[in-house]
Amino acid sequence: MALPPNIILLGFMGSGKSTTGRELSQFAGFQYWDMDQWIEEKNKKSVSEIFETMGESYFRSEELEAMNLIRNQTRYVLSLGGGAWLSQNSREVFIKLGWCVWLKVSPEQSYKRIENHLFKRPLLAKSEKPLDRIIQLLEKRSPAYSLAHFSVDTDNKTPKEVALEIYETLLKVKPFDLSQLSS
Ligand code: S3P
Repeated sequence: MALPPNIILLGFMGSGKSTTGRELSQFAGFQYWDMDQWIEEKNKKSVSEIFETMGESYFRSEELEAMNLIRNQTRYVLSLGGGAWLSQNSREVFIKLGWCVWLKVSPEQSYKRIENHLFKRPLLAKSEKPLDRIIQLLEKRSPAYSLAHFSVDTDNKTPKEVALEIYETLLKVKPFDLSQLSS
């Protein structure tokens, strides 16, 4: 059965969900929506400040609110925060909302991409050994990420290359009616 015309990008921190999502929205002619950004704008605080002042469980409840807001939309590229896919209830919504693509990244590349702005990642910022923490979290989360409809390796690729690969696969796989694409 065809999915609604949306593309949902999920994956670990540093997999490039936001930058790839913006590129992909251009290829597809879809609007771009970033879950973390929506939460930051709503709360007028950065993700780190939200974790610091309101706690992680408040942040997770904001992710649910964001999901409920977007769940009836079409023709969007949605970039999720790295943890937004992990609850089974949320996954069940996303998997019906559009074509879900896991951006795979190795722990080493994830670390390399985010090491200069670890302060923006509250789950890693206080860790003495961030790479070990990444390895641990990625191992725990990968079984859930692997439930996406499709996965793409991002190591040693630019966001634009990844976006193009996803777009070319989309044209082949046709997860939704391609007449919805406007480019
Ligand atoms: C998180 C990832 C972050 C952000 C928050 C929690 C996670 O998003 O939502 O810090 O649980 O993996 P990015 O994946 O965009 O860094």
